Amino acid sequence: MVNKDVTKVCIGRLDELPEQLGKTVYIEDKELAVFKLSNGSIRAIENRCPHKGGVLAEGIVSGEYVFCPMHDWKISLEDGIVQEPDHGCVKTYETLIEGEHVYLVY
Ligand code: FES
Repeated sequence: MVNKDVTKVCIGRLDELPEQLGKTVYIEDKELAVFKLSNGSIRAIENRCPHKGGVLAEGIVSGEYVFCPMHDWKISLEDGIVQEPDHGCVKTYETLIEGEHVYLVY
């Protein structure tokens, strides 16, 4: 349920998002990495690694994590937290699947 104070923007068709691969999506001033997991759920996070700005949409997905393509930091797609022994976090975004389409909600 989306209330009236939030913005909902379509970020593509569900069947066009590649499974287990990231897709870069630009919305206003935001650059997001969007992932469709093997269980069909969608995750969206800020597209820049907090270490040295690696493009997370180009990372390797494993379960609920993405590994940064630059130096392999492991980042949760659930809450954006960088896993030990590294530290930091990226912003996560709420997504919504409605029919054939995926929406970003913010
Ligand atoms: S830039 Fe992502 S791990 Fe270094």
